[in-house]
Amino acid sequence: MSRRDPHSFSDLDQGRVASMDLDLNVDFSSSRLHGKATLNLAAPGGGPLDLDTRDLEIRGVTDTDGNELAWEIAEQDDILGSCLRVTLPVGAQAFTIDYATSPQASALQWLEPAQTDGGKHPYLFSQCQAIHARSVIPCQDSPLARFTFHAKMTVPEDLTVVMAAAPGQAGTGSQPGTRSFSFEMPQSIPPYLFAFAVGNIVSQDLGPRSRVYTEPETLEKSAWEFADVDKMLLAAEDVFGPYLWDRFDFLVMPGSFPYGGMENPRLTFLTPTLLAGDRSLVNVLAHELAHSWTGNLVTNATMDDFWLNEGFTVWAERRILENLDGLEAKSLASAIGRNGLMEAMNSFGMDSPFTQLQTDSKGSDPDEFYSLVPYEKGYLFVALLEQAAGREKFDAFIKKYIKHFSFTSITTAQFEEFLNAELPGIPDQVRANEWIHQAGLPDNNPVFESERLAMLENLAKSWSDGGRPDVAAAKKWTPEDWQIFLQALPRTLPQEDCAWLDENFGLTGQGNSEILCNWLIIATGSGYEPTFDRTARFLSEVGRMKYLKPLYTTLYSGKKTKGLAKEIFAANANGYHPIARGGIERIMAG
Ligand code: BES
Ligand code: ZN
Repeated sequence: MSRRDPHSFSDLDQGRVASMDLDLNVDFSSSRLHGKATLNLAAPGGGPLDLDTRDLEIRGVTDTDGNELAWEIAEQDDILGSCLRVTLPVGAQAFTIDYATSPQASALQWLEPAQTDGGKHPYLFSQCQAIHARSVIPCQDSPLARFTFHAKMTVPEDLTVVMAAAPGQAGTGSQPGTRSFSFEMPQSIPPYLFAFAVGNIVSQDLGPRSRVYTEPETLEKSAWEFADVDKMLLAAEDVFGPYLWDRFDFLVMPGSFPYGGMENPRLTFLTPTLLAGDRSLVNVLAHELAHSWTGNLVTNATMDDFWLNEGFTVWAERRILENLDGLEAKSLASAIGRNGLMEAMNSFGMDSPFTQLQTDSKGSDPDEFYSLVPYEKGYLFVALLEQAAGREKFDAFIKKYIKHFSFTSITTAQFEEFLNAELPGIPDQVRANEWIHQAGLPDNNPVFESERLAMLENLAKSWSDGGRPDVAAAKKWTPEDWQIFLQALPRTLPQEDCAWLDENFGLTGQGNSEILCNWLIIATGSGYEPTFDRTARFLSEVGRMKYLKPLYTTLYSGKKTKGLAKEIFAANANGYHPIARGGIERIMAG
């Protein structure tokens, strides 16, 4: 099998980097990391070795004796960055690259003190998935190229470094006024899981294996919101088998973090928009935890196999939910997921190749490719397999799958082969081939029945005919109820209907970010002015793309609000992560 990844310049047949030693200085005044990366080869090499880079300034490449090695860097490709070709002497086992990152590094966000909760210290964090690790370290930036690493990070002495790795010693840095933090990652990871953050960061223990990290101002709220993490960990081990990453800690990020969560091993990153104050959004923590198995132990070989990461993880997330909150909760979550899936599929077109599970994304930017399809179509497929095999058999299958492929990165074909061998007959019975390789949603997709769901959707669908929720009853709805109801309402409502909803249910004042965002989409889409200020403020505090994208799309497509979209973006673009900024620029260009 040739090990090529459409999103990497490196040829993994030719030589592989097995481990890295990083020694990086964090310079807030120039918004650069600078230092050295030593790349250790799995087997002695010789000749050209290609690495992925983006916007890196290469200062020199040396062998282990300090001799200069020849290198050249190719012209930049918009999506992939630049290929760095190092020429290794015969028998080379390691080499060192002296380099600096660019202030525009696509994985990094440098925050001014004003963009943090505390307002006094700067902050820096990374987000490498899908192909941004190359803007931080020169590497074979493919999930096929797993590596272990040691890292030393030197920062101003009043700041703390946390990393998705096991922390080692911290001590005085070699420059006055600095501190150095050491880390070790003894288990091999794909490059997209490399992650760190620097800032005024404190922590609190939540259980024997878990601790929350965040800024001091957010610590108490975070510790309360995610207090059940240990229960989740036990529920997840029930599904998958033992947790192999030692600790499961997590970091609650500044508001500009572009995702809901990111499963960085030993240190999941979470958006602060999960801090609803009622634990109603903790499913995202369960999701990132589940990636500890599906994603971090068994990793997609390339972005075309991304559904192996996300489909299985959504399935596991909902198994954990079923275990903790029951079947009805799982059905509701599945229904919310199906709404998102149908919206995504309809916007691509049901026969679009974007609706396949295994994709062909050669030549496209994974950030643009991102959608709910691998998540929710993937979920339905895994749930269908579970139904067809029966829970007992399927649970055994999952545990065996994890054990068999642990610490490897696998293609969809490898999964199919394993499925055929382990659950013979089932793939044909459920038409696995159609699910995986064809567009659209096969008609044997599992439907999760829920009376509550049907009631809420019917009520919302009767809106135009005058159907309204009973005010007293709706005041007692759960956050999930509200999400389903709002998602099922027409996308635009008459002004007086917006006013009625807001007056009765205080939607603009919502602390649950899902409800708030769903409401603001309807209200701004309806041109309902009393909510414009809240929308503007939300878009200035939050950088999570799940919220930015639909809100900017709605604002930008409304006659009355197009100018407002431009104004809000101009005021906040610098505060968004480069990946999020790029996403909104695409919306406003189209
Ligand atoms: N790994 C993803 C986030 C991601 C995917 C980042 C692709 C970059 C490229 C993470 O596990 C995720 O899926 N997060 C979701 C939450 C989840 C509950 C669906 C999110 O950020 O909304
Ligand atoms: Zn995920």
